Amino acid sequence: MQTRTLAGYEHVYELECAGSRAFIAIHAALRGRAFGGVRIRAYASDEHALTDALALAEAMTRKVVLAGIDGGGAKSVLRLPPPHRRAAAIHQLGRFIDSLGGRYQCGGDYGFTAADEAVLRAATRHVACGDLAEATARSVELAIFAAADPRVVALQGLGAVGRPLARRLLARGVRVIAADPTWPEDLVPGDTLQRVDPAAIYGVDCDVFAPCAHGGVLDASTIPRLRAALVCGAANNPFAAADDVDRLNARGVAYIPDVIANAGATIVGASNALDEEAHIDRRFAAIPALIHDLLDRSRSERRSTHWIAHELADQRIAALRRPA
Ligand code: NAI
Repeated sequence: MQTRTLAGYEHVYELECAGSRAFIAIHAALRGRAFGGVRIRAYASDEHALTDALALAEAMTRKVVLAGIDGGGAKSVLRLPPPHRRAAAIHQLGRFIDSLGGRYQCGGDYGFTAADEAVLRAATRHVACGDLAEATARSVELAIFAAADPRVVALQGLGAVGRPLARRLLARGVRVIAADPTWPEDLVPGDTLQRVDPAAIYGVDCDVFAPCAHGGVLDASTIPRLRAALVCGAANNPFAAADDVDRLNARGVAYIPDVIANAGATIVGASNALDEEAHIDRRFAAIPALIHDLLDRSRSERRSTHWIAHELADQRIAALRRPA
């Protein structure tokens, strides 16, 4: 295990896990604890994996404080191991997380399966519990309906979050047009659930574009193609670059910050870890009011909700850094 000293981060660890490289970034263990999932992905290089871990950990801190939780953020990324070494790699990562003694409470993220969770749980008790992907689908649904009354949603990704989100939207009478290169067998396309090619999802005529696959999907080539009035989904860090935030805003497309829309897993996982289960419903219920406030401010200040949410989060982080 190696540690890297990086400005703005409490700890960044680099770990060899059964032949695969993992990076564990603790952005801020506010009040002694940081929350954040484990992502497993086929990164092109260690640098790509590290960059992702750093950005995701920072966003986690914002997500935690905006959810009204006294804590900060962290993230682990594991470069995709070969199938025969996957369990060993996750176990090793879990043992390392365990050695941090609860300072970092982990959970699942992109590329992380139920089988992975069982392996992680055997290695450390510092794994968030609850149906976290379902909780994320709940917060995305809340966020979408706080900002719009959609008839058609274009849904990118039908994984752990996208699947339950599709079901929730369909149950509310919304037509869902979805794309996923690996379409799940349990979702059968029909009148209200339509399947499109992944490359075509951006141009779908819809009220809401919901990115629920990976980050970095909103860029100079995809933003001009969007036909939605609102972007609201689960994907963390959906903008490819900071310029793209303003590019989307300039097109007049409203945006619900990822750290608010996808906070469900954090709300459930962190509340459970802190023995604050009684606060879960209240924390979900606070999401629409926060969104209304951000959208009002975005209109009057003529800038993206993304930047306003950042400022709000940074104020809360500063308050938590002050002695209790
Ligand atoms: P997942 O790995 O279960 O599902 C991702 C899905 O996206 C897969 O079905 C994959 O085939 C699909 N996909 C990949 N490339 C695609 C493309 N180009 N077009 C359409 N679909 C594509 O991941 P999960 O857990 O559903 O997470 C989705 C997003 O939400 C990720 O960005 C994750 O970071 C974020 N998120 C997830 C949370 C959770 O509770 N699982 C919590 C907060 C954020």
